[in-house]
Amino acid sequence: MQKILVVDDAEVNREILRVMLEDDYNVVMAADGEEALFMLKKQREEFSAVLLDLHMPKRDGFAVISDLKAQGWLQKIPVLIISSEHAIEVENRCLEMGVSDFIHKPFETSIVKNRVKNAMQLFTYKNQLEQKVEEQEETLEKQHQIIEMQAEKLRETEPFNRLMMEYRATIMEVETRLKVLNEEFSQVYNRNPFESIKSRLKSPTSIYAKLAYKGYPVTVESIREHLTDVAGLRVICSFPDDIYRLADFLIKQDDFILLRKKDYISSPKPNGYRSLHLILSVPIFLSDEKKYMKAEVQFRTIAMDFWASVEHKLKYKKDVEDTEEIERQLRICADSIEALDYQMQDIRNKIDRSVIAKHIN
Ligand code: GTP
Ligand code: MG
Repeated sequence: MQKILVVDDAEVNREILRVMLEDDYNVVMAADGEEALFMLKKQREEFSAVLLDLHMPKRDGFAVISDLKAQGWLQKIPVLIISSEHAIEVENRCLEMGVSDFIHKPFETSIVKNRVKNAMQLFTYKNQLEQKVEEQEETLEKQHQIIEMQAEKLRETEPFNRLMMEYRATIMEVETRLKVLNEEFSQVYNRNPFESIKSRLKSPTSIYAKLAYKGYPVTVESIREHLTDVAGLRVICSFPDDIYRLADFLIKQDDFILLRKKDYISSPKPNGYRSLHLILSVPIFLSDEKKYMKAEVQFRTIAMDFWASVEHKLKYKKDVEDTEEIERQLRICADSIEALDYQMQDIRNKIDRSVIAKHIN
């Protein structure tokens, strides 16, 4: 039987509650706040709920609540206030302090039983949930440690380091092709097709985590075969049409092979993410061989990049509150950004046309 502590200075109240609850619970009683706190301090873990009167000699109910709150116990054990008044101020004050519910006098057996049962159930669920979260966090932490250890091992092996050198060469190769296009474009059209390129080599930790998550072995061959984003490049353009033009030029290079194209601009992700992704197979030229390597190139506008970096923070920071609302707002922003991108493109087209017209006239 679960143990309940009934705290009331009026013996008649204690007795009524004991009779109402003793079939279902082990009812223990205290005649004032001091006695209650003494019992709770000695054996808090044993009690499943506290029924507490507010007006008592020595230490009153508020003092008991404050004490329990200060020790963090109000999170662990439901406290129900026994009261004869329906004063909104008093109830509000109690609720703000963290009590679970109220039992009003005169007592009604079924109401008393149900309120106690509900409050206890809610706490049981809450505690179970908290325990689960704690366990999951522990598991995650352990997994993270294993990943770190394996990544460290990976870092020390010679074939892995050679592979990373090859991926760095891949990034340089793709970057050079893009920069050449930029040079040519700015001469012919007097404008740059992209604003900047960011590149990154996937870290050993991320490599290991992704392979483990997908259930692939962690070997150099497996990285080559299964991962397409170890060499990653991000090309930031001013306008959407530059993205497609530039991507086309890159794909058309006769030694670049397009393995996959994901157009999240024409079909955005549900969260609003927009970018054009190309998975390319790219040759690198080493001292004794020519080797094809995979690279992921993401194209987006400046505005889409701004959005993606903010959204990335939301996705990977677990302690952000009000996530649903933030996600809704991010979707709205993504749509506005798309509209803005095309508006800017229209303006650029108008300016281009007026410049051409001026030259013809
Ligand atoms: P990953 O396993 O995350 O690489 O995804 P994927 O293999 O399914 O490929 P996808 O083309 O969906 O994503 C590739 C990369 O694009 C990601 O690693 C991110 O850098 C970026 N990306 C994709 N979706 C999102 C998104 O919703 N938000 C942000 N900020 N970036 C995204
Ligand atoms: Mg990826």
